[in-house]
Amino acid sequence: AKEPVRVLVTGAAGQIGYALVPMVARGVMMGPDQPVILHMLDIPFAAEALNGVKMELIDAAFPLLKGVIATTDVAEACAGVNVAVMVGGFPRKEGMERKDVMSKNVSIYKSQASALEKYAAPNCKVLVVANPANTNALILKEFAPSIPEKNITCLTRLDHNRALGQVSERLNVQVSDVKNVIIWGNHSSSQYPDTCHATVSTKDGEKSVPALVNDDEWLRGPFIQTVQQRGAAIIKARKLSSALSAASSACDHIRNWVLGTPEGTWVSMGVYSDGSYNVPAGLIYSFPVTCKNGEWSIVQGLSIDDFSRKKMDATATELTEEKALAYSCLN
Ligand code: NAI
Repeated sequence: AKEPVRVLVTGAAGQIGYALVPMVARGVMMGPDQPVILHMLDIPFAAEALNGVKMELIDAAFPLLKGVIATTDVAEACAGVNVAVMVGGFPRKEGMERKDVMSKNVSIYKSQASALEKYAAPNCKVLVVANPANTNALILKEFAPSIPEKNITCLTRLDHNRALGQVSERLNVQVSDVKNVIIWGNHSSSQYPDTCHATVSTKDGEKSVPALVNDDEWLRGPFIQTVQQRGAAIIKARKLSSALSAASSACDHIRNWVLGTPEGTWVSMGVYSDGSYNVPAGLIYSFPVTCKNGEWSIVQGLSIDDFSRKKMDATATELTEEKALAYSCLN
């Protein structure tokens, strides 16, 4: 039998946490034959609710779940974890300045970086979900210098999956037949959902999405806006932000990272830029990646047209500004 893997979920008493922990306990994240021990962290204000989630996890009698830790102590939460999914953060409340939200999250991610560095298992893989996801991940990277930078990522898989969903709806094909969309840049409304290299498998072989859609105006306009604004549309409809889709996408992100991407398929992940595609190095930026043996690598050599270039640069500019704002909060 396999040794259990320890999975940390921060903000586990929140909405995404409530959708995510049962998925982890069912093997959706680490695979159907991989036992897990869940480490759940939240703040004292949510301690009682967190304990309620732990009770439900016990009640669900998940065969793969070999232990549950529910704690408000960061050191205990991080001890020996192999995977850390960082969902906890400070939300933007009405009337709050961007800088105030940034400042709260910078201080959370700075201290959680130190705890992961001290207590997590060597080679722990980190996924930041909490917004501003790219910049929180960057702060975590900066303050956990002993964690390899390749191990620190942020979630743009939800945006990627939303893009697959929109293409499948438009073409009236199964979402599982669509692949290789790309989310470039920030997990914000400046992101660039790109279908230039996306394909659909049909009974006559692989077909290009732009050719099948045959409507560049839609692909460059309403399609992009729908994906960019999907989070806001969900809030409007549900009066709560995306949770089941965020949780499911977080599982997809980690599962593909650990177990690999299928041959010929890439996914989008926010990773530390090495300057590929002339994206400034030193930002956490969403790229197309393939994964093998527990490591991601950026898909190289894709052609980039002028339209794409402008969109990729605009979201990079926003991330550069966010980085500067985050640094100004440190002082
Ligand atoms: P929520 O407010 O329901 O839950 C957040 C939880 O984090 C709360 O239980 C809170 O007590 C906890 N928390 C706050 N500070 C903490 C700290 N220092 N340590 C540990 N826990 C802490 O929010 P929800 O809906 O679950 O969303 C969580 C985050 O995910 C938000 O920042 C949201 O913007 C982000 N998000 C990101 C997405 C992405 O695709 N990257 C998609 C959807 C949401």
